[in-house]
Amino acid sequence: MHGQVERWDQLAAAELDAAVIDPNDLPGRKNRYIARLRNAAILEAVRPLLSQDDVVLDFGCGNGGISSQLSVTGCWTLGVDISMGLLKRTGERNLGRKSAFVRYDGRHLPVRAASFKAAVTWVVLNHILDDAELHHLLVQIRASLVPGGRFVAIEQVRRRPTVDRTAWQHRRTIEGFIALFNAAGFRVEETAIVRYGRLPMTYAIRYGWLSERHHESVARWERRIGRWLGVLPWDYCDVRFVLSVDSPAPP
Ligand SMILES: C[S@@+](CC[C@H](N)C(=O)[O-])C[C@H]1O[C@@H](n2cnc3c(N)ncnc32)[C@H](O)[C@@H]1O
Repeated sequence: MHGQVERWDQLAAAELDAAVIDPNDLPGRKNRYIARLRNAAILEAVRPLLSQDDVVLDFGCGNGGISSQLSVTGCWTLGVDISMGLLKRTGERNLGRKSAFVRYDGRHLPVRAASFKAAVTWVVLNHILDDAELHHLLVQIRASLVPGGRFVAIEQVRRRPTVDRTAWQHRRTIEGFIALFNAAGFRVEETAIVRYGRLPMTYAIRYGWLSERHHESVARWERRIGRWLGVLPWDYCDVRFVLSVDSPAPP
């Protein structure tokens, strides 16, 4: 955990999206596309559930990109993360008055049971290498939700699991994630591929051959390809898991 905190603290100095997406994308076109797609996919899944003044947990909030989008819906957000460097930069986001952020140790979620209507996360569970550690955190996230609540997680998956310890990255399979979610007491409502890592369209956006006005149609194509072809053998993809909590957490 120690090395991982340092890694994110170092990345925190980069431009806001680059710090949490791809620090090598200097013009930032690809990062803008990914951030937009991330925000749309998260909001689409939680918005129908939320009313004004509901509280949402932004797990592994980084520098507050998702919280800033959620604040537009009028709900309250609590962002938790392990990196003080990233959390310090949340002040540069457009957040309003209903967002709070907390640094924690990465193991013991500092929240009370049944506090949130929804929890969201984007590419954070991937950075928890050990399955037992991830299980422990998922049980805590589940307990933090009210019955009827929802957890929306977008995570990178592969056809076979891969672990890259230098990048603190464990890309599990869809089935691997589902087993972990079920073991923590979630019911899986939906899994959908929302983005691929290395489609030619992504490079076209990165190098400026496709502009921002093409973002929506590229995103639609990514979902279609996801439905038709699933996880490609040579690529990773971002999968949105929509998970629900049907009953109170066991004591
Ligand atoms: C790829 S960034 C995503 C940040 C944010 N979710 C976003 O969409 O901008 C991964 C984040 O996971 C955080 N992280 C890594 N391990 C964590 C843990 N055990 N608990 C909470 N956050 C963690 C990192 O500090 C970093 O902010």
